[in-house]
Amino acid sequence: MKNKITIAIDGFSSTGKSTLAKELARHLGYVYVDTGAMYRAIAFFAMQNKYISKNFFDSQSLINELPSIKLVFKFNPNLGFAEMYLNNVNVEAQIRTLEVSNFVSKVAEISEVRSKLVEQQKEIGKNKGIVMDGRDIGTVVFPDAELKIFMTASPKTRAERRFKELKDKGDNVTFEAVLQNVEERDYIDTHREDSPLVKAKDAIEFDNSNITKEEQFKKVMQLISLS
Ligand code: DC
Repeated sequence: MKNKITIAIDGFSSTGKSTLAKELARHLGYVYVDTGAMYRAIAFFAMQNKYISKNFFDSQSLINELPSIKLVFKFNPNLGFAEMYLNNVNVEAQIRTLEVSNFVSKVAEISEVRSKLVEQQKEIGKNKGIVMDGRDIGTVVFPDAELKIFMTASPKTRAERRFKELKDKGDNVTFEAVLQNVEERDYIDTHREDSPLVKAKDAIEFDNSNITKEEQFKKVMQLISLS
């Protein structure tokens, strides 16, 4: 494969999209973009400003503030990937909590939020040589991507992975709360009006409930060599 391509990875939460995307980017010398981090940063901003909490969401105030929100990815050579900065502050750790996960799908339903982020994502990927993961990359952001992957796994398998990740970080969460969050996000992400999570017609589906990361990586690399 001589020319750089665009690789779009979509799918349900905790299907290992970012693990696969990071590995592909490292292997190919491509840029990796985690679009979920952008939605998470906006949700974190809404939480900080008290626009969103349990049973309350002042979406109009968030929409009014959107032009002043600056999101930047900065590559951290020690980690080997880019971290999310919200208005010049590194929020990488804060955006990965279960609390942010509980609000982010509500924020991602708002069309004004989506159009701001999609515009920035298109700009970042305009020169190809990019691996971008999210929910609408192959359908909305890069409908002409040369390779589209759609990842699934059972909710239980995904909640187990997420639970382990959060526990390893020292977060005090229960498996039931994580499973509930996975199921709620699946519902909102697939039922929202603007850019719901759907498999693009030309995407290749991977159900990775029962295959290893290594097997999956090998299969995707074979697909890339054919692109
Ligand atoms: O990939 P993630 O779990 O970090 O994404 C967090 C949320 O952001 C997810 O529940 C839905 C939303 N999202 C989206 O709507 N569109 C994207 N391209 C990426 C994420």
